[in-house]
Amino acid sequence: MWDDTGDQYLDLYGGHAVISIGHTHPHWVKRIEEQLEKIAFYSNSVRIPLQAELADKLGKVSGKPDYQLFLCNSGAEANENALKLASFHNGRKKIIAFSRSFHGRTSLAVSATDNKNYIAPVNETDNVLFLPFNEEEALQDCFQKNGKEISSVIIEGIQGVGGINVAENSFLQKIRQLCDEYGAVYIADSVQCGYGRSGKFFSHDFAGANADIYTMAKGMGNGFPVAGLIIAPHIKAKHFQLGTTFGGNHLACAAALAVLEVIEEEKLMGNAVTTGHYLQEELKKIPELENVRGKGLMIGFDVPEGLKELKNNLLWNQKIFTGESRPNTIRLLPSLALKKRDAEDFIEALKEEIEKIMEKV
Ligand SMILES: Cc1ncc(COP(=O)(O)O)c(C=O)c1O
Repeated sequence: MWDDTGDQYLDLYGGHAVISIGHTHPHWVKRIEEQLEKIAFYSNSVRIPLQAELADKLGKVSGKPDYQLFLCNSGAEANENALKLASFHNGRKKIIAFSRSFHGRTSLAVSATDNKNYIAPVNETDNVLFLPFNEEEALQDCFQKNGKEISSVIIEGIQGVGGINVAENSFLQKIRQLCDEYGAVYIADSVQCGYGRSGKFFSHDFAGANADIYTMAKGMGNGFPVAGLIIAPHIKAKHFQLGTTFGGNHLACAAALAVLEVIEEEKLMGNAVTTGHYLQEELKKIPELENVRGKGLMIGFDVPEGLKELKNNLLWNQKIFTGESRPNTIRLLPSLALKKRDAEDFIEALKEEIEKIMEKV
């Protein structure tokens, strides 16, 4: 990226994990421009062939060709619809969510978010049960006590806002098993950790257990607002249950198709694995950094109190954008096209800034 004076920046944050294939990727620009010349929007009262094209492509790239697609506009909306659909499906009201989760700011999504500051009194509900992340025993106990009331379990495969916490495979397998046993719906919130960022299309799939619904947004449009959920075939679509005016409009579909085409063409999931691996290995060698974690190009590490200016110094001295998660985590969420060369530059810049701060102490 360049600012108004022509200075160049390396963006390792992607505006909140949104930039998946790179800012203003030429194929993405072309696809949107061409679509704009034809038609930008018509409502879902008519059939929009681009939606079918997107559903097919998404099914293929994600490895879930038999799932149905519902399109909307934001991550919160995707989760809102997923939770609602689960409740329509099994007629139940209770939702299990986890400590440090973030699912969005609309009413039900925010109720399932573990941050009191975001929950207005009107969003408070007894329907959401919060359990400790990655603790199988607590999950098992909760199902044993309330199993027949539980409509859905919603979980991020890698918590983003909560600080890059990876869900363990055995924990996700346990969710699958308990949801099957008790007739609950397993919702994989892939808004931040999905769309190839982890090196698999959905990070939940490292566990080898399918979710019933996957929600997605952020990287799906590379900056064009588009989101969606894919729904396993046993959950039948019924007329009037879900609906949207803007969701799945022509421009959004064109942007989303462009993203999938580039992910395939440029083998970006493979790049996320190799460049992500390189970054994690190099970060682990820096003794001042703690608890390096994540998968693919979704990486977090903790910074001790003495290095708390590090994130700002990277931006102002090195022109590198990174993200944070309070209190002391730096989050890396770059484009999946991040080059090894840029990753190397980042590691060098990081070492230099750490050294400068240490010299002052
Ligand atoms: C895991 C997760 N779910 C849902 C959301 C909400 O998405 P949006 O801001 O598009 O509504 C976010 C946003 O940060 C997120 O990280």
